[in-house]
Amino acid sequence: MLSMPAESSVTTIENKRPENKVFIFDTTLRDGEQCPGAALRHSEKIQIAHQLALLNVDVIEAGFPFSSPGDFESVRQIASEVRGPIICGLSRTTPQDIEATWDAVKVAEKPRIHTFIGTSDIHIQAKFKKTREEILNIARDMVALAASKCKDVEFSAEDAGRTDPFYLYKVLEAVIDAGATTVNIPDTVGYTIPDEFGRLIRGIVNNVPNIDQAIISIHCHNDLGLATANSIAGIQNGARQVECTINGIGERAGNAAMEEVALALKVRPEYFEGLYTDINTVHFAEASRLVSELTSMPIQYNKAIVGRNAFAHESGIHQDGFLKGRATYEIMRPEWIGLSEAYLPLGPRSGRAAVKSRLEKLGVSLSDAQMISFFEAFKLLADEKKRVEDEDLKSLVQQLENQSSPV
Ligand code: KIV
Ligand code: ZN
Repeated sequence: MLSMPAESSVTTIENKRPENKVFIFDTTLRDGEQCPGAALRHSEKIQIAHQLALLNVDVIEAGFPFSSPGDFESVRQIASEVRGPIICGLSRTTPQDIEATWDAVKVAEKPRIHTFIGTSDIHIQAKFKKTREEILNIARDMVALAASKCKDVEFSAEDAGRTDPFYLYKVLEAVIDAGATTVNIPDTVGYTIPDEFGRLIRGIVNNVPNIDQAIISIHCHNDLGLATANSIAGIQNGARQVECTINGIGERAGNAAMEEVALALKVRPEYFEGLYTDINTVHFAEASRLVSELTSMPIQYNKAIVGRNAFAHESGIHQDGFLKGRATYEIMRPEWIGLSEAYLPLGPRSGRAAVKSRLEKLGVSLSDAQMISFFEAFKLLADEKKRVEDEDLKSLVQQLENQSSPV
């Protein structure tokens, strides 16, 4: 029988084995902030970082310290005052970038240096005008430099989704030897298909000889709308860190949305063989609202998990089914993300059951005969107004009372 999973069946202590943990790396303040028009002020970044700590993310990528003095200062302040998550800064594979990142994150309780270089032939030839061998040497040397400063070093093979896998294996082996503790596999241009991306991760698990000494991370962009699906495929094939953002914001079409990845694992545990995140999902609604407001990026109404309609049931058939048993049309509880209840908007397609239920919430109880005339009046109003609010219902009740009371 299909039923909604009880909260306890998803995150019991027994299935929280350390090797099953999927680390959540938030890059809202770095990749997220890269999207046009989303620039954040210093104080706003600090506010978001504290909200991310409440969500219990494992890593906050706080910015790109070498890119500007403002970014350096934000990363440094987040590193000095946000406790709990690892605080990470991004750097290209250059000594100046790595120095700047280390200067900014070293005050953190748990600092991380993240360094990256493009490994696809397109990047190697067009961007760097170098050979594959030169790129591999730079990656290895710069990871070694970062590791001489910080024991937690992440290396990203930018455009890994379009990189020759056999070359990628060699680069990853070299950077792990040089001290990388996390190796990130970005689908930088959101080009891969879930099955393909899953096979790429499986190939890394099977072909990089020292892969057991590092965590495999994934970083999927959403150009084809597949960022979450690709992240899920990556996790199912061996990735144990997911890079994502609140509301899925990020360069171009954005990154995988943290709320989607975390809820997929929570709602469908049978597909993840004991894998779990430590995300405190009840803070998602607030995190989403805050990021949307501070970045001035509205959330589409039908956005999964955090969109205004994600827990709204509009048609009469759905509303009737929902009122008879929530599991008919609800696969997760709004309370899980910090909302108080599901929402049954009243409009032209609403049925009698939803109207009656809303009237009862307003303290109005009508006889069957009264309900027939009330519902006729409701339908006429709904056709005209499209959305019927509580105030409209109250005036309809008033009209009904006036008509039936003797003059
Ligand atoms: O998309 C990408 O490749 C990145 C890297 C810097 C991790 O954002
Ligand atoms: Zn990215």
